[in-house]
Amino acid sequence: MEFKKILITGGAGFIGSNFINHLLSKRDDVFIVNLDKLTYAGNLENLKPSEAKKNYVFIKGDITNNELVNYVFNKYNIKYVINFAAESHVDRSILGSEIFYRTNVIGTNVLLEASRRFEVEKFLQISTDEVYGSLGPNGLFTEKTPLAPNSPYSSSKAAADLMALSFSHTFGLPVIVTRCSNNFGPYQFPEKLIPLMIINAINDKKLPVYGDGLNVRDWIYVLDHNRAIETVLDHGKNGEIYNIGASNEKRNIDIVKLILDKLQKPESLIEFVKDRPGHDRRYAIDSTKIKSELGWKPIFAFEDAIFETIDWYIKNKSWWERIISGDYKKYYKTLYENR
Ligand code: NAD
Ligand code: TYD
Repeated sequence: MEFKKILITGGAGFIGSNFINHLLSKRDDVFIVNLDKLTYAGNLENLKPSEAKKNYVFIKGDITNNELVNYVFNKYNIKYVINFAAESHVDRSILGSEIFYRTNVIGTNVLLEASRRFEVEKFLQISTDEVYGSLGPNGLFTEKTPLAPNSPYSSSKAAADLMALSFSHTFGLPVIVTRCSNNFGPYQFPEKLIPLMIINAINDKKLPVYGDGLNVRDWIYVLDHNRAIETVLDHGKNGEIYNIGASNEKRNIDIVKLILDKLQKPESLIEFVKDRPGHDRRYAIDSTKIKSELGWKPIFAFEDAIFETIDWYIKNKSWWERIISGDYKKYYKTLYENR
């Protein structure tokens, strides 16, 4: 059988590992090469369900390393690329932006150049709704919304999107960009809102809510995002952008209260802390295009998926205890102490 040879970058992170586990659990027409630098956010434990599969290999390496990327394309005859690799956390991009531009911009450029040379059949750039900036109380982001990124993180992702689309326009590289809203689910690194609040609540620690807690994010379960990426991989049109979202707008404070309620912890654990500089007020995504043109739609109800996620963190304490007992402690102290 002819395999689809797919290079997945950043496949040891939250979304990438869920994607690999999802794809390998149901398809045997793919061969996956996972190239990941294993930064603080990369964790091979996430890939336990896939590591023994014959159609899967892991390579530890940096997407900014031209020579290595060339070697990987050549050795595995890569024909499909899905670029998840990124520095992904807004707060870290405020603490230090350089690595964001190095990985998210230069790294994407290295992959695009290699993809040109090796004439890949598809290059999926995994992006975010944060490239559109912040919304007022009304309206939704569509694919035509002008880019207006506000954080070093989102500006680096917007730069990568534009670069990828320019390679489509100028060189005819078969590029597709997907822009998804905020994900949640198993294996999400505890720096992000939902796992951070679940873990702090379990540990009876304060829950640091930025500003007034009324910022709105549009949440999607990671498996729905992954199903959308699979749809785009199989049926997406080259040169196009697809927004991905599940229409679950929630205020941060309501998410935090839901988590406390489910864990039967008191609301007195909530602590309002100094706001994030440049904090985007509201994100909300219109995914009409991917629904009407490619037939994807989300299948997980928000309440069920968040309860499942909370249960996952309850049952997988050893996974996150190892994380929060290491370098994470220093990060947490820097960001949250005396805030
Ligand atoms: P993550 O931080 O959990 O994982 C990122 C992975 O990339 C890690 O495994 C890390 O080791 C790897 N990586 C980082 N720098 C690398 C480099 N130079 N070379 C090779 N590997 C490197 O991130 P995530 O939440 O899984 O996000 C994955 C992608 O999806 C990112 O591109 C992000 O911008 C995008 N995205 C995320 C969300 C979200 O809610 N988390 C929403 C929309 C889009
Ligand atoms: P986050 O998970 O960092 O995603 P993003 O900023 O990329 O949307 O944050 C989600 C929302 O939660 C955002 O409005 C910031 C807020 N937040 C807090 O209030 N406290 C926290 O400790 C964190 C990490 C986030």
